[in-house]
Amino acid sequence: MNAPQADHLKAVSDAALGEDEQAAQNYFDQLISEDSRVEPRDWMPEGYRKTLTRQVSQHAHSEIIGMQPEANWITRAPSLKRKAILMAKVQDEAGHGLYLYSAAETLGTPRDVLNQQLLDGKAKYSSIFNYPARTWADIGAIGWLVDGAAICNQVPLCRASYGPYGRAMVRICKEESFHQRQGWEILYELSHGTPEQKQMAQDAVNRFYGPALQMFGPPDEDSPNSKQSMAWNIKRFSNDELRQRFVDMMVPQAEALGLTLPDPDLKWNEERGHYDYGKLDWNEFKSVISGHGPCNVQRMQRRRAAHSEGAWVREAAAEYARKMEAHNAELIGA
Ligand code: 3HC
Repeated sequence: MNAPQADHLKAVSDAALGEDEQAAQNYFDQLISEDSRVEPRDWMPEGYRKTLTRQVSQHAHSEIIGMQPEANWITRAPSLKRKAILMAKVQDEAGHGLYLYSAAETLGTPRDVLNQQLLDGKAKYSSIFNYPARTWADIGAIGWLVDGAAICNQVPLCRASYGPYGRAMVRICKEESFHQRQGWEILYELSHGTPEQKQMAQDAVNRFYGPALQMFGPPDEDSPNSKQSMAWNIKRFSNDELRQRFVDMMVPQAEALGLTLPDPDLKWNEERGHYDYGKLDWNEFKSVISGHGPCNVQRMQRRRAAHSEGAWVREAAAEYARKMEAHNAELIGA
């Protein structure tokens, strides 16, 4: 579209909007162009509200489902110290889910509706959590690679234009950085242990590396949401930009661990100033996000069971809130 056509289109759309709405749209556009924050009280285009609700709720679901592969190892952690650290980490993930559902609610969709979308299998969550944690080394690989990828993807989200999301991300990223260090430390100990332990660490990295790279989402040319989300300052970098940043960051870390990354095409490219890396299996990614990964069925069964087993807690909390309200009303009336 050329400039006069764009001006004409804008004039037509301005005329179609009411005057108040136009002023609100102008204010929103100004906030975005100044790189300021949009708050829940501000008017926002429906598309902005919708894509944020989508992204933030998918992120919240990922945190909650992501508790499962790790919680699976709490009873089998090799020492009391490891157990306590892992429990704290799993609790952190629950907290992340809570902040994110709260941020999503400020966009107008109640948490029970978002939760129901997950339980009905209508909402996505991160592909990575559909892979099993088979050995203790997998807990290290999840911490180092999965939380490492999460940090790389999520630090720029601390600057997301929507205030409640950006603020939630600040605390989440601090905790994720502790998570990554505990994963690194598990792998470091294993890779400097017996040959069997080192092999176990390498095997875990071999299985989690590719799926961790896919956490950044499809390649840019197949990412329908990136362009608009970047124009709205929700996403600050494209999927491929962040994936590249992650690869560049992990190569020296793998060397320091004494482990190798399972990619024969991984090679420093002097000209680009980045590592070149091999093609990822995007058919596998599509299959996992459409419900056919190794653990999709198990993860959803567990989530549904946990939801129904926790019904009494929700009922008790609602009853307590009702009693407190009645009690307060009585006091005011007295
Ligand atoms: N797993 C599952 N679905 C994915 C995905 C993945 N790894 N990557 C992309 N998708 C989905 C998108 O949600 C989108 O689906 P939809 O249009 O039906 O909603 C579709 O594939 C197309 O992808 P796009 O690139 O167009 O989507 P986005 O612009 O939303 O980008 C994203 C995807 C990079 C994951 C972005 O949403 C994002 O940055 N989200 C916030 C971070 C997040 O959710 N991380 C999940 C991991 S949480 C975590 O790591 C917990 C920690 O404790 C380890």
